[in-house]
Order: sequence, then C-alpha cells, then structure tokens
Amino acid sequence: PRTIYISRHGETEMNLEGRIGGDSNISENGKNFAEKLKEYLERENIENLRVWTSLLKRTKQTVENINAPKEHWKALNEIDAGVCEGMTYEEIATRYPDDFAARDRDKYHYRYPGGESYQDLVARLEPVIMELERQENVLVVCHQAVARCLLAYFMDQDSESLPYVKVPLHTIIKLTPIAYGCLVEHIPLNV
Ligand code: G3H
Repeated sequence: PRTIYISRHGETEMNLEGRIGGDSNISENGKNFAEKLKEYLERENIENLRVWTSLLKRTKQTVENINAPKEHWKALNEIDAGVCEGMTYEEIATRYPDDFAARDRDKYHYRYPGGESYQDLVARLEPVIMELERQENVLVVCHQAVARCLLAYFMDQDSESLPYVKVPLHTIIKLTPIAYGCLVEHIPLNV
C-alpha cells in the first residue's frame, strides 16, 4: 500500500521568535532536521518517492538534499495571516484584541483581516488533496495550519477540532490507508 508522509518545515528563525507567517530561513536546528529527514527517507528506501513543498523558502530548504523529484505548490503555502503576518501572538492580542478573542471563539471560521481562515485554507487545499489521492508515495513538507487541514481530511476529523490538531515540528507523520480510514504514525526525529 502507498504511504503519505507529512511534515512541517524545519525550525525557522521566526519560529524561534514566536512570529507567525513570513518567509524566513531555517535555523541551524532546522538544518539538522533536514539532514535527519533525508537519512530517514534513505533508510526507508521508499519506491518512487515524490516530494511536495510550498513555495516558501523554509519548506524548500528542508528538502534541499533529498534525492527525489520535487514539486512546489502555492496551494501548500501557510495560512495567510493578513495584517498579522510577522507578529507574535502577544502583539496580535495587544494590537487587535477583538480579533484575537474572535479567533479564540471560532478558530475554524475566523478570517485574518486581509488574510485567510482555516475554512479558506481547506478550500485552497482541495486540488492538492485530489492529486494526493491519485499519487503513490509522497512526502509533503508544509506548514502547521496546512498539515492540520491535510491530516483532518485523511483522519476524518470535524472542522471544530481541526485548528487544534497537534502537529509538532521535526516529526514525520506517516499515513497508510487501510480498509476503512488511515493508519497514523508519529515519528519524531530528535534533533
Ligand atoms: O500562523 C501559522 C501557524 O502555523 C498556525 O497556527 O492557527 O494555531 O495560530 P495557529
């Protein structure tokens, strides 16, 4: 049976500062993850593996040394935080307190001013999911909010819990379709 591997990009400089969005480079720690990920895939010896990333630097840098055909999808870019791009959650709470509270009340439907909601993201990801369904073994290196939407789809999770699905950094999530549903394994790569 085919397998889908999902991972976030390696840790970035902005992750270290607690800032969301942007297009920053991966950190030293992030590079260590990229190396471990490459070694893991080599050990697994996956047949005809394809690697998909977003257009953002952090995902491309994470797969840079992996020897497999790559595709970069704009649709895999992180949720657009609009006016909040580049801010910390503390800054958002101070500058946009009403938005911060509204998001807490209904995280799935809340749309960042000038940006996207999780609901928007699910719609944006539809073509990616369609194509994933047709493919064999694929590694998708993406972003926290995007990974939540992909996982929720394959795990049949409801939209209310979707924005809270735990997707830690530096962890490969391995999905293997079985008769009804998907086998889900978390593989943390210690870096
Ligand atoms: O903004 C990017 C984050 O990966 C999404 O996290 O939806 O829990 O704020 P959040």
